[in-house]
Amino acid sequence: MPDRFKTIIEPFRIHSVEPLRLTTEDDRREKIKAAGYNVFALRAEDVLIDLLTDSGTGAMSRDQWAAIQHGDESYAGSPSWFRFLEAVQRLFPFRHVIPTHQGRAAERILFSVIAGPGKVIPNNTHFDTTRANIEATGAEALDLVIAEGREPQRIHPFKGNMDVAALENLLAKQSADVPVVFITVTNNSGGGQPVSMENIRAVRAVCDRYRVPLFLDACRFAENAWFIRLREKGYAERDVGDIVREMASYADGMTMSAKKDPLANIGGWLAVNDDDLAEKCRNLLILTEGFSTYGGLAGRDLEAIAQGLSEAIEPDYLRYRIRSTEYLADALDRAGVPIVKPAGGHAVYIDARSLLAHIPPLAYPGEALAVALYETGGIRSVEIGTVMFGRRPDGSEAPAAMDLVRMAIPRRTYTQSHIDYVIEVVLAVAKRASELRGYRIVDEPPQLRHFTARFEPLAATR
Ligand code: F0G
Repeated sequence: MPDRFKTIIEPFRIHSVEPLRLTTEDDRREKIKAAGYNVFALRAEDVLIDLLTDSGTGAMSRDQWAAIQHGDESYAGSPSWFRFLEAVQRLFPFRHVIPTHQGRAAERILFSVIAGPGKVIPNNTHFDTTRANIEATGAEALDLVIAEGREPQRIHPFKGNMDVAALENLLAKQSADVPVVFITVTNNSGGGQPVSMENIRAVRAVCDRYRVPLFLDACRFAENAWFIRLREKGYAERDVGDIVREMASYADGMTMSAKKDPLANIGGWLAVNDDDLAEKCRNLLILTEGFSTYGGLAGRDLEAIAQGLSEAIEPDYLRYRIRSTEYLADALDRAGVPIVKPAGGHAVYIDARSLLAHIPPLAYPGEALAVALYETGGIRSVEIGTVMFGRRPDGSEAPAAMDLVRMAIPRRTYTQSHIDYVIEVVLAVAKRASELRGYRIVDEPPQLRHFTARFEPLAATR
């Protein structure tokens, strides 16, 4: 695409369409009230633009649908498994690849084997399922992102970087309690921010000094690699696949959700180099997910993932992907809406704590904003803040580091005019931000409460 034209061209044309159902604001007020003001409890048909997640919501390509026809459903040793294995190892050459139905299954298997009471697992920022799976074993999940990564407005090219000094401190004190160090690329809970190759290398060096393995939570590996290519010295001309392989070369293993960058609707894997660990994990896999050559997936899913992996690293796709997310972020920023800057790879995060400064964190400003975006324009977003992270394992509550609202962009799914509409709606809500009210939780489960909690609006502005 010639640089002199600004318009972002979606590098595909549309081949099959899904209708969107238009609803009215009155309609939506009723629907969200009935859902206990929790966007997870809405019916998807009542949502106009669904930015709840980029997970499993992307559009598959013609070639992925064609690959699905090659799906071989043999229970063991299917050709689809070998195509999947080869596609995974081409980018992530770990010795053992263990397929799972999605990322959290890989997390559960891994942490069941290596975590447990007394253990500590550091990460730049744990995603909610990662944290929950660690805590479910009795271990502690520790977030060690750099200070810049906790300041929404602060510009830094690699805000997902791990605080290497803090990691070194931790390992100097208690490396025996740390079974693994994780780096999440891109750092989803911290704003979809990338991690530099230099930082991965530095973390690896610290891990080596204390003989602790390093794993990647690599869900958004391709977006991270593209940011490295754009922003890190020495990578501008490098092949994206090579950048991914270099990232993987510093790690001893990985967890993956194929519902993100691999462009599939379902799937994931755990990969490790350690033979012993692999055997223990495979045994658990067979117990709950399935045999080790399908791990809870159909052969056709394995085919779709294998094809998706090759499309995920195409420069035209990644250029469009990162630019189109930035397009939304730039428009909101220009209009004065506080967002996490710079734009993340897969999502734009509104800083609800700053936009709704009159709502204290324990009255959930992110929740208030997510409800308003739905009521006003039928946009479904998600709170990533005190609702998601405010409840500690002992049942007490404290404000999360940030109160963000994430608008995640499904891959290859919405066009620029959909995004122009989203911009209009966000600006309309921001204009009357001071009128929005906080919420209280009337019902919540002990873990991962954001999925099922029910809320009630507070009576007056607080
Ligand atoms: N790690 C990260 C960084 C994630 O973003 C996710 C999922 C997972 C692990 C778990 O993968 O969903 O396949 O079990 N993130 C989705 C999201 C759900 O909306 O950000 P999964």
